[in-house]
Order: sequence, then structure tokens, then C-alpha cells
Amino acid sequence: MGWRIGEPIMDTCRVIFVSLSLVILVLSTRVPGTAQDRPLRIYADERGFLIGTAVAMTPFRSESIYNETLKNEFNILVAENAFKWDSVRPSRDTFNFADTDALVDFAEANHMKIRGHTLVWHSQIPSWLSGGNFTRDEVISILREHILTIVGRYRGRVWAWDVVNEAVNDSSGALRTSSFWFQTIGPDYIKLAFEYARDGDPDARLYYNDYSIEDLGAKSTGVYNLMSSLKSQGAPIDGVGWQMHQINGFRTDPAHKTNAKRIAGLGLEISITEMDVRMSLPSAPDDLNQQSIAYRDAINFCLTTPNCTALLTWGFTDKHSWIPGFFAGWGDALIFDSSYQPKPAYFALRDALIQGADSAPAISGAQRDRKKLLINGGGFLEGAEFFINGEKQKKVFNSLESPSVTLVAKKSGKKVRTGDILLVKNPDGLFSNEFVYSH
Ligand code: G3I
Repeated sequence: MGWRIGEPIMDTCRVIFVSLSLVILVLSTRVPGTAQDRPLRIYADERGFLIGTAVAMTPFRSESIYNETLKNEFNILVAENAFKWDSVRPSRDTFNFADTDALVDFAEANHMKIRGHTLVWHSQIPSWLSGGNFTRDEVISILREHILTIVGRYRGRVWAWDVVNEAVNDSSGALRTSSFWFQTIGPDYIKLAFEYARDGDPDARLYYNDYSIEDLGAKSTGVYNLMSSLKSQGAPIDGVGWQMHQINGFRTDPAHKTNAKRIAGLGLEISITEMDVRMSLPSAPDDLNQQSIAYRDAINFCLTTPNCTALLTWGFTDKHSWIPGFFAGWGDALIFDSSYQPKPAYFALRDALIQGADSAPAISGAQRDRKKLLINGGGFLEGAEFFINGEKQKKVFNSLESPSVTLVAKKSGKKVRTGDILLVKNPDGLFSNEFVYSH
């Protein structure tokens, strides 16, 4: 085979091409110890965001890998049970702070914030109290002493308290009247609890915490009305905790945005306080991928919602989760598996923290074109969803000419009215700004 001009050049090109693709490969792969492979809290700290988990005392006291993962990955923690009445208050005259002290010391030693959960709840009330036949005034003084003692003990150390937990009825949105506190004190117990907590710590964030309140249903409206009335009475409330105990398949939608906005309108922040995404067992790889979408949606929702301050999961490893004990045949709800290996959900949280809200879509204008509505802006990903007043629009496509800056809503031209709220949600869960349409 004769030697031809140019041969050496071809070899050189081939070598350059191979090494270039190698570099790209290395850069895109999560190589341990590289920029793409650091714990969640590093990226969260860089964004001033709080990513955390509930802590169970048994593994906390017995499994070193549990504590290692806890302090490496998270910048905020909450006790799953240790701060509750049945743990802290074994009798009327005694407080047991062994577990709570250990947790607060651990958090401070590892530069983690602490959420205190919970000062007033209808569950886990010790029998000396629920069966004590105390008068209304006696229960009020017991409650006051309890809150001043525990909040005072951790003044300036606990960042936020779930002062009242789950006081609203699921279906009606009215106050839960079966609660020991409602039965003995009456509806005032809520305002009293917030006032005692504020007396205990002038600076801690004071939250109302509940489940199934992230959308726009009767319960979340009940909570909204309760917060609005308490604020108008001057009660010291800073935020609302969305527990977010979800079932696999969960996705965020504009209703969550509208709900967060009305809560912001009361001057309140929100936190996602107890997230888990349960699935029926045994779980399959597709289930885990579906689960990662739910967690990605939730964190991207929080990163693009100005008054959302934190996302905490209710535990972090499937080895220690309340789900299997309360929902037979369900589980795998968390971001690490039972061998403490990160699941797709973990990487979804991390990628969202790395990416941040910077690549969120943005709407800058919209105009009718006969039956169609053209939505202009930027950052529209393939498959972006489009909503008018929270209603998802059908037949929405990225324009062929400029897919990332124009969406075509084939059926919405005739429907849209001046004053309507337009919103885009990308497949990665990042929401756009709310754009008010004018003709
Ligand atoms: O401490 C006792 C222990 O002495 C006893 O041997 C053992 C056996 O029964 O029970 C232990 O108490 C259990 C406690 O958790 C501590 O592990 C209770 O039975 C059990 O009911 C309790 O469950 C907790 C549940 O709240 C109580 O309603 C779960 O761990 C905890 O994850 C769950 O957390 C709640 C939040 O506080 C509020 N939002 C919903 C969330 C899930 O229900």
C-alpha cells in the first residue's frame, strides 16, 4: 500500500477527534469527587437553599452510615418524633430533652439548621394529659409552660417551629373539632400557641404545618382562610408547611403556583416539610424514574417560587421510613435505597440544584393568529405545557422556526381574554413567570 499525501493529517484529525470526545465524555459523567458529584448540601448552600430530612432516633444512635449521610448531604434537619409531646413530656412534671439535645448539638456541629416538629398536634399526646381531665384553664397553662420551656430551651438554635400541626379537617377545610386541644381549649388554642412560641423565641420562624394543602382544594382554602384570619388578629405566623406525602405519579401544576402566591399575599413563606413519594412494592426501574420526576418537579417548583424557602423529605433512606408501617405493601418513598445508595430521585434533586432556576422558561408576549395563540419568550423546552388561568391547553407545540422562543397553542386563540394569566411549565418542572395577557 503506497503512502499518500495527507495521510498524516487524517491521523492527526482522528487523534484530535477521539481525545475531544473523551474530554466531553469525562466532563458529562459524574466522576466521583468532581464538580458534578458533590453532596446535595454543597449545591444547596451555593444557592442559599435549604435541603433537608427528618431524623429517626434509632438509626441516629446506632448506624454510623446514617449519620454520615445525614451530615454530608443535608443543611437542615427535623426530628421525626423526638420533639413531640409523647417523647419530650413523659409526665406533667418532667421533660426529657436527651434526644432533642443530641439532635440540636449534632446539627450545630455540622452547620445544619433545625426545624422543631411539633408543639401542638392531635396525635402522640401522652396519656397523663389526654386522660388527665384537666380544666380549660389548666390545659392552657400546661400548654403555655410546655411551649415556653421547649422553645425557650432552644432559643436562637431552632430555625423554625411547626407550632401547630394538622388542625384543619381534610374534606371541609374547617377546624378539626376532634382534636384534644379543640375539645379542651376551643379554637383559640391555635392563636395562643403561636403567641407562646413567639414569647419563647422572638426570632424563630413560626409555621402552621399540614398535609394535602399544596393544591387549591377545600382543605388548602381552609388553611388559607385560617392563616388570613390569624394574621388579621395579629398572630405571629411566618409560614405554612406543605408536608407533601405523595403517591408516585405526582406532578406539580399551576394550582400549586396560585396557592403559593396567595399565601405570599398574606406575607407568609412556605416550606416543603415532609416530602416522600410512595409506590406499591416491589418497585420497578420505571417507577423509580417516575419518582425522580416528582422530586424534580417539587424542587424546581420551590426554586422558582419566591416565597418557598426549603425542601425536606420525611427520612432519606428507604431502610427507615414510616410508609411501610402505615401503608401495607407500599414503600421505597425516599431518595436513598435501603442500602444507602442514591436513587434516580437523589440525582434529580442534585441536578436541579446544580441547574437552578436560571434556565426557567420566560413569557414576554402573546398574540392571537386566528384560532392560534403565539406565546413568545425564551427557554421553552420541547414538550413544554401551556396554561391559561391554570387550565392546561391542548395542541401546544414548539414552533418549527424558533422552538425555544415561540410556542404555538393551536386552539387557544379564540379562548384567551385580556387579563388572563398565561403560564408555561417545562418538562423538567420549571415554571415560567405568570404573564397577564392583553389583547
Ligand atoms: O416510642 C414507641 C416505642 O417505645 C414503642 O416500643 C413502639 C412500638 O409501638 O412505638 C414507638 O412509638 C412509635 C413512634 O412513631 C416512634 O417511633 C409510634 O408507635 C408510632 O405511631 C409513631 O409513628 C410516627 C407517626 O408520625 C405518629 O403519628 C411516625 O414515626 C412519624 O413518621 C409520623 O410523622 C407524621 C408527622 O409527625 C406529621 N405528618 C405526618 C407524618 C406521617 O404520619
